[in-house]
Amino acid sequence: MKTHGPIVAVYPGSFDPVTLGHEDVVRRTLRFSDRLIVAVAGFSTQPKRSLFPVAERLEILKEVFGGEPRVECVAFSGLLVDFARDIGARFIIRGLRAVSDFDYEFQMAQMNRELWDEVETIFLTPEVHYSFLSASLVREVAALGGDVSTFVSPLVLQRLKRRFS
Ligand code: PNS
Repeated sequence: MKTHGPIVAVYPGSFDPVTLGHEDVVRRTLRFSDRLIVAVAGFSTQPKRSLFPVAERLEILKEVFGGEPRVECVAFSGLLVDFARDIGARFIIRGLRAVSDFDYEFQMAQMNRELWDEVETIFLTPEVHYSFLSASLVREVAALGGDVSTFVSPLVLQRLKRRFS
């Protein structure tokens, strides 16, 4: 196993839309990695109705992280481990908010290791203010006209307003 060279991590997800919780996980990852690939998945393990198409989610991510040279935002299809191997990332980053996330995350981490035993999943806990926050709740609250301005960055808020106007 390679033990030197830059630390490249991939942070996969649906990001529909990216929330301040996701942004917090990105900031924390940059404390120990040299390069972070934020990767929007074309296929999510948990079936959900999407709000923004993948191309738009990616556009939003690029705007949000545009000022951070160590972050690259991309979309991928197919298996996460294949994508990670292709880009030379041996670390998968996932946010873990509460015990309720654990089963799903544990299954994915174990399956990914089964598929590629050189990959390590690293779980980061977000800042406590975001521990209840999820993109699906943001979608729902925004769709019903609620205020999500403390959960997403201003440019995501603009997109949501446009989407629901
Ligand atoms: O934000 P999400 O929807 O919880 O992220 C889930 C995601 C995208 C990380 C997961 O579904 C995934 O890795 N999808 C890519 C397809 C894949 O590799 N599936 C097997 C996962 S064990």
